[in-house]
Amino acid sequence: MATATKIPHLSPREREIAGPASQQGRLDPSREAKDRLIVALDFPTAEAAMALVDQLQGTCRWFKVGMELYYAAGNSVIETLRQRGLNVFLDLKLHDIPNTVAGAVRSVTSAGASLLTIHAGGGERMMRAAAEAASVPGAPRLLAVTVLTSLDAPELAAVGVPDPPATQVLRLARLAQAAGIDGLVCSAEEVAAARELMGPAALLVTPGIRPAGTGANDQSRMATPAQAIARGASMLVVGRPITQAADPAQAAAAILAEIATPAS
Ligand code: C5P
Repeated sequence: MATATKIPHLSPREREIAGPASQQGRLDPSREAKDRLIVALDFPTAEAAMALVDQLQGTCRWFKVGMELYYAAGNSVIETLRQRGLNVFLDLKLHDIPNTVAGAVRSVTSAGASLLTIHAGGGERMMRAAAEAASVPGAPRLLAVTVLTSLDAPELAAVGVPDPPATQVLRLARLAQAAGIDGLVCSAEEVAAARELMGPAALLVTPGIRPAGTGANDQSRMATPAQAIARGASMLVVGRPITQAADPAQAAAAILAEIATPAS
């Protein structure tokens, strides 16, 4: 039976991002688990998103603002979350020519997000330009999205990548590393290999999380919270298993308990 001591510890940089509780090195596993769960606010309005946040206040401290919510609500929803003392993962998956992505990074730098995604598929020069733009004080830490967790091997082959998803993830991870980006988004199927490649300081964020007994929705490369943590994920992104649950706070609490004690 695995114990909380098997959870990989946060790196100093992850502690810096995760906030004071972790910086103080507290051993309370439920507090540490809170720094490892990001709830995806995939909602069409700030009102709907904040209604869910109200239910999770006190249980969760990280929230993901993705394209759906950001395009609808803009920076104000980030400010609202920050005013409540919550941390924001801004998942815009930027993917354009280097100059445009660098400009986009500069445009969102002051919004107050702690993490921001770019697509590794944009190439090393694009990622390097983004990293330079994010090298100013107060800018979010960048995460390179590798292969979407919704894609399976045949779909990847259909867009011209005949290699297995894991091969492509590691290829993109090396490019990200070369560009100076040590944070990745990848599925739990590749997170162990990514951890080996990137080392203990890398921030590896894993979506495609499905607690036992919950539906796949449109995800393909999935794992339970315990599996993802045991394989080396730093943080988990969970959307519908929490947001669509009959009792979101209870669903989040169950995931936090699994993160804290990932029995294998
Ligand atoms: O509802 P569900 O748990 O599937 O939500 C997963 C979230 O993680 C979504 O907001 C999706 O945009 C995001 N994501 C993902 N796969 C990636 C990167 C981000 O599913 N590779």
